[in-house]
Amino acid sequence: MRIGFLTGGGDCPGLNPALRGAVMRGLDFGHEMIGFMRGWAGLVEGDSMPLDLALVEDLANKGGTILLSSRTNPFKKAEDLQSCRDNFEKFGLDCLIALGGEDTLGVAHRLFSEYNLPTIGVPKTMDNDLEGTDYTFGFDSATEVAVDAADRLKDTARSHSRIMVLEVMGRHAGWVALQTAVAAGADWLFIPEVPCDIQEMVAALKKKLDRGKKWGLVVVSEGAEIEALNEKDLPVDAFGHVILRDRGVGQFISEEIEKHLKIETRFSVLGHIVRGGAPTAFDRWLATRVGIKAMDMANAGKFGYMACLKGTQMEAVPLEKAVSKWKTVPVELYQEVLTLFQK
Ligand code: F6P
Repeated sequence: MRIGFLTGGGDCPGLNPALRGAVMRGLDFGHEMIGFMRGWAGLVEGDSMPLDLALVEDLANKGGTILLSSRTNPFKKAEDLQSCRDNFEKFGLDCLIALGGEDTLGVAHRLFSEYNLPTIGVPKTMDNDLEGTDYTFGFDSATEVAVDAADRLKDTARSHSRIMVLEVMGRHAGWVALQTAVAAGADWLFIPEVPCDIQEMVAALKKKLDRGKKWGLVVVSEGAEIEALNEKDLPVDAFGHVILRDRGVGQFISEEIEKHLKIETRFSVLGHIVRGGAPTAFDRWLATRVGIKAMDMANAGKFGYMACLKGTQMEAVPLEKAVSKWKTVPVELYQEVLTLFQK
């Protein structure tokens, strides 16, 4: 078989080991493998490179993606879609394995369901918001970095008797913020799934200050639901998602704390730092396994599916299900840990 690969959307630790696992498995079957550069842009433009053992062998611990990435949406322009279809044929692809999140896999799904092109998905995203898999690689690595940052902020918060606000990425899903806040022992938390109640946070922080605590840490997800910020006219990306970079959630929360509690408060925006660096051991393990699974699926002709983690097992789930909705934090899970922030 001739098998193509691409990595699309925001990069995250795990893409390289996933590619490594898939290509190494593909060699067992004698497949010819090629990588398309910069996500769907590579397929549109026919920009590719051969993938072999020498190229992937040392990728187990490497961050980023050797195939580069972009947020190109080939369904935005009819001629781009046509180029994708033409290049599928021109490159003689028997299967295309797309490593990505909801947007990238949404394209893979449409190419399969609307144009009968043999695509397979590999789930990645630091947001951990893909339906149909228990975890996406990239999430554990991102959270590890965020927890380290939170621990550091606590040190300086303590030294200066300040409250520090840490803003983390995650878009409409609060997974990174939730796990960071719990793991770092934060004092309050805002996630997109639960409408922000500033007064509730102020009351909780006041309670801690009243009992003698002189500092604090608040973790906030970039997409946290704050009415005052909803009016901001923000740009959208190629898939129509609002770009949250300039929303200023961390700054807003920080100003509210200072206003209500008269305690010096600072904010830090972690941003893309969590998307770089070596994947954690868990992400290397998960990425490698989904990569191998995707190649086994290609070999078995299981197109229109995504490799996924269910419990401890690798399974295949229809791409349609994976992109049907976002897997956000269940409110019950938030409520389960709320006690930690109310003391
Ligand atoms: O989807 C992953 C993610 O890191 C989100 O958490 C964040 O909102 C977005 O990508 C940032 O996108 P970009 O890298 O295009 O600025």
